[in-house]
Amino acid sequence: MSKRIRHHVNPLGILTEHHFEGFGNTHDIIVDIGAFKGEFIAGLLAQFPQYNYIALEVRRRVAARLAQRFAAYDNVAVFDGDGTRNFKNIVKPCQDEGAFIREIYVNFPDPWPKKRHHKRRIITAHFLQETAAWLDPRTTWIFQTDRADVFRDTVDILESLGYAYERFDAPPYGVTTDWEDAKVARGETIYRMRFWLGAPVRTDDTPRIATRLADGALGALAFVMLRVLHALKTDDGH
Ligand SMILES: C[S@@+](CC[C@H](N)C(=O)[O-])C[C@H]1O[C@@H](n2cnc3c(N)ncnc32)[C@H](O)[C@@H]1O
Repeated sequence: MSKRIRHHVNPLGILTEHHFEGFGNTHDIIVDIGAFKGEFIAGLLAQFPQYNYIALEVRRRVAARLAQRFAAYDNVAVFDGDGTRNFKNIVKPCQDEGAFIREIYVNFPDPWPKKRHHKRRIITAHFLQETAAWLDPRTTWIFQTDRADVFRDTVDILESLGYAYERFDAPPYGVTTDWEDAKVARGETIYRMRFWLGAPVRTDDTPRIATRLADGALGALAFVMLRVLHALKTDDGH
């Protein structure tokens, strides 16, 4: 009898490289890393049609369905491939053309529980350090998970890098996905936080945020230190 072998494919083995020229306007941008079926972006799009949206989804077929879902929207751009690997090539040109990256969502990321696989997680110290070198420090990251271990590990990373973070309870703008709904239906706890390098942005349609920073100065200092560290590393040829 032949043995049935299941191959576990690491989707991050997909090395597709993307470059994006931007949307051709300076409207604020919302990014969803690991957008899956796109319900989260659809929920935000319904409330905030004035923004541009970037959906990053590593699984090709899922990304293809996402692209179909949003084909009629000029303000939604979908990319397959590893969102962290392509992040700078896709998001920085938008910022360079004058758009503010308003929010970056990492909702219910794959947990990769084994320590040797932690580097496959979306939020890693390496990814945040790379990003801090160019991303506007006022950009807000939003992280949501049903995994206490992943949440704790992510908090550890943020604290080690000097990010400010704040936990919150309700789904952002009331938007949930099937994934979250299923977890909640099973009675699981959802852990949520926002984090930033610098002071948070406050505008009329952003819920007021009581940042952990007294006045943002600490965040600004942490930001400068990270940039210096990054510059030193780059000078070293690493
Ligand atoms: C557990 S699902 C959650 C989906 C969605 N964010 C939600 O809240 O319903 C995680 C998704 O992230 C995608 N993903 C994992 N690593 C990724 C990466 N590095 N870049 C882009 N997408 C990724 C997976 O393919 C999957 O669709």
